[in-house]
Amino acid sequence: MHVFLTLMLSLTWLVLLGDSGVGKSCIVLRFVRGHFDPTSKVTVGASFLSQTLGLQDSTTVKFEIWDTAGQERYASLAPLYYRGAAVAVVVYDITSEETFRKAQYWVKELQKHASPGIIMALVGNKADLHENRAVSSQEAIEYAEKNGMFFIETSAKTANNIIQLFEKMKIEVA
Ligand code: GTP
Ligand code: MG
Repeated sequence: MHVFLTLMLSLTWLVLLGDSGVGKSCIVLRFVRGHFDPTSKVTVGASFLSQTLGLQDSTTVKFEIWDTAGQERYASLAPLYYRGAAVAVVVYDITSEETFRKAQYWVKELQKHASPGIIMALVGNKADLHENRAVSSQEAIEYAEKNGMFFIETSAKTANNIIQLFEKMKIEVA
């Protein structure tokens, strides 16, 4: 008797957007390499990494990740990375109100110019710094709900909720 195994591999283009310093590169590094680099350098232009999730089950998603540069001077490049993306992860830093406003700017831009069916996640990073919290979870939850986004607070430093973020995105695209 022959046993056939069908493995569905879907390639998923995922883009990270958000202000400089919120921890986008650290989130990707934590997800792909499993470590945290406190001396992470600002991203220039954008950087690309890929990671496959779910090798053991029948739906395997390979994330092709564009980690964009948050510095203002690179803002005009962003459409190159989000146009055609299946998933957009918009990141802010829970200790900075300003980065939360910047996240809202990116959400509006995605709503105007990204693919209509794009899956969006709002991510409050640096959750380990809760003593310095400037953006309440409630405020972010309400904003995410209003805009049809998945919401999660993460810490690239402690790894809290990083895998959960990508697992959730995997379920959404599978
Ligand atoms: P750009 O590349 O300029 O857009 O910035 P970025 O969003 O990629 O930021 P990056 O990942 O380089 O992180 C900036 C700094 O924030 C890092 O050097 C870390 O020290 C710090 N950082 C990132 N994630 C966390 C986190 O979860 N907790 C804490 N405490 N610090 C973090
Ligand atoms: Mg970066």
